[in-house]
Amino acid sequence: MEEMNSNQKLFVPSLPTLWPSMLWGRAKTAGFQPFASANVRYFYFARNAVWLTVKMLGLDKGEVLMPSYHHGVEVEAVIDAGATPRFYRVGSRWDVDLEDVEKKIGPKTKALYLVHYAGFPGPVSEMREIADRHGLPLIEDCALSLLSADGTQPLGTTGDIGIFCLYKTLPVPNGGALTINGPRQYSLPEPPPPPLASTFSHTVSALLQNLELRGGTMGRGLRSLIRKVGHGTVKAANIERVATGTQHFNRDHVDMGMSPLTKRIALAQDLEGIVEKRRRNYFFLLGRLRDVSTPLFNQLPPGVCPLFYPIVVQDKAEVLGKLHAMGIDAIDFWNRFHPACDAAAFPEVGQLRRSIVEIPCHQDLEPEVMANVAAAVREAVKTDRRTRKRAG
Ligand SMILES: Cc1ncc(COP(=O)(O)O)c(C=O)c1O
Repeated sequence: MEEMNSNQKLFVPSLPTLWPSMLWGRAKTAGFQPFASANVRYFYFARNAVWLTVKMLGLDKGEVLMPSYHHGVEVEAVIDAGATPRFYRVGSRWDVDLEDVEKKIGPKTKALYLVHYAGFPGPVSEMREIADRHGLPLIEDCALSLLSADGTQPLGTTGDIGIFCLYKTLPVPNGGALTINGPRQYSLPEPPPPPLASTFSHTVSALLQNLELRGGTMGRGLRSLIRKVGHGTVKAANIERVATGTQHFNRDHVDMGMSPLTKRIALAQDLEGIVEKRRRNYFFLLGRLRDVSTPLFNQLPPGVCPLFYPIVVQDKAEVLGKLHAMGIDAIDFWNRFHPACDAAAFPEVGQLRRSIVEIPCHQDLEPEVMANVAAAVREAVKTDRRTRKRAG
């Protein structure tokens, strides 16, 4: 297997980039959620959809049963909307403890909340059964699972509510969605579009990333020049850039909708092709990395559209430092509990938070790039193990 020279600098962004042709691509009919839903509302972020769900279902003042393995911003949105989160156990393989869910349902429980992790389906039919038995609504959080399915059942269609984030999987400037399943009708107002300047600024960043991805050293130089000019312009024009992917809920942005450009870009994508490429890249990493780190999942079940490859490491900071130095934008996945959740009660989740790193496997990464990514990760993880052994 080839080794990676650590002086070799790659450019592997964590998110897919925007190809200029995507700005004027023709809209295709999308058979995927949330686009195919008969009852959908779009927002700037998924967190807005979480907040509105609590209000819409009248969960405020009650308890929402949520997973102890969470991002934190979805918990913040639930609390800000007036509900109290209560947490259930998740095991070391991202497995929901259904017995614990059932045990924690009490007189104050108003809803069950399930998160599908990185495209991997949670036990949604079992959760549906529990919810029905107790007369509770089920919220399916697919913020990390756009385009993913459990076999042939698209994620987000079993719960009463599906929640999606668009910009983590597609090269769009913003976008979250709330789908309402079943016969219940809620007349939700269409939220106003975000500031044009914000959409413009995110779109230009994604285009520049594409330039660097395709243009090698020249693209990199050009991107850095344009960015410098761009930063100056943003400052001078006092442009309000509403950042995406941030860690905290901000009530000021709760009514902000999605930009029309997002829908345009999203519908021009070859969504089936994206799922295929992500699966191909994931399989490739699985094959190349399984001997240096025991995979969290040994296979990719049918229908899964992986958001990233979750690798288990011993020293996150060290591995992340090495990968960043090699140009791979690996991400520290979910290292903190929300303060409302008692970390000591969920030791397996604590361990997950200390050990999972996201390795990109998105649709922009061609097989040759993936070979370099795999080699870089092998090297970073191998030295991580050696250092640990010596320290131990
Ligand atoms: C499980 C989960 N739900 C909701 C969100 C909120 O997504 P957004 O950033 O679109 O608000 C996130 C964000 O990472 C998440 O991980």
